[in-house]
Amino acid sequence: MDQVAIVTGASKGLGAAIARRLARQGLTVVASARSQEQLQSLAQEYPSQIFPFTCDVTKSEQVQSLIQFTIEKCGKIDVLINNAGLGRFAPIHELDESDWDEMMDVNLKGTFLACKYAIPYLKQTEGHIINISSVAGMVAFPNGGGYCASKFGLMGFSEALTLELKSHHVNVSTLCPGSIKTEFNNPKDWAMEPEQVAETVWLIISAPKNVIINQVVMRPQVPKEFQKK
Ligand SMILES: NC(=O)c1ccc[n+]([C@@H]2O[C@H](COP(=O)([O-])OP(=O)(O)OC[C@H]3O[C@@H](n4cnc5c(N)ncnc54)[C@H](OP(=O)(O)O)[C@@H]3O)[C@@H](O)[C@H]2O)c1
Repeated sequence: MDQVAIVTGASKGLGAAIARRLARQGLTVVASARSQEQLQSLAQEYPSQIFPFTCDVTKSEQVQSLIQFTIEKCGKIDVLINNAGLGRFAPIHELDESDWDEMMDVNLKGTFLACKYAIPYLKQTEGHIINISSVAGMVAFPNGGGYCASKFGLMGFSEALTLELKSHHVNVSTLCPGSIKTEFNNPKDWAMEPEQVAETVWLIISAPKNVIINQVVMRPQVPKEFQKK
């Protein structure tokens, strides 16, 4: 079998675009998220290549089942793409505690859990982890305190993981996109298409094995009249 990839948060938006891009390239993809129906309709587009698996990344036993399903169905894991994520935006004194917890649980803990349970298999294939962070993981902005904290945290996590897994030849890459046209957060007209970001994911995966693409930052070109002076 060719390469096997797990994509979290694949029911829509960037994750669905990544799953399609990898399937088009011939990879077998286990597409996971909580929305079963959306995953099933995605899988119908590539019935022999995309396998849906319902999984809430914040639940340890569900993440373990996702990894187990992938091994039973496909025999190995070459690529893990930690894409599931959400943002809630408000000044810190108005941000609900439940929104804070959800961002930390999905954006950070979900990635930790998927890595924790996939790493033993990724070591066997000398595989690749791609963590979808954000420009908000490098540059903070008002009303983004919770989201930025989760994505800055993800950057530190990815950096430590890069060093931990280097000797096992498991590459870790972090992709930091700016605004993308998804349901995530009322995107502007000039936001990037999810397919453009998915293309970059493919470029990262297909880089020569001896090259570690550590971090990639992608920003949309903002029309001149809207650029901050
Ligand atoms: N859109 C942007 O402007 C932008 C910019 C930079 C970075 N990003 C990052 O890109 C990633 C994808 O975002 P998007 O723009 O594609 O957003 P989206 O369209 O809202 O999709 C988010 C995905 O995450 C999944 N998800 C949320 N909570 C989950 C959970 N507990 N368990 C499993 N899956 C969960 C959702 O699936 P279910 O609801 O079905 O579970 C959905 O598939 C995120 O990490 C986001 O932070 C987005």
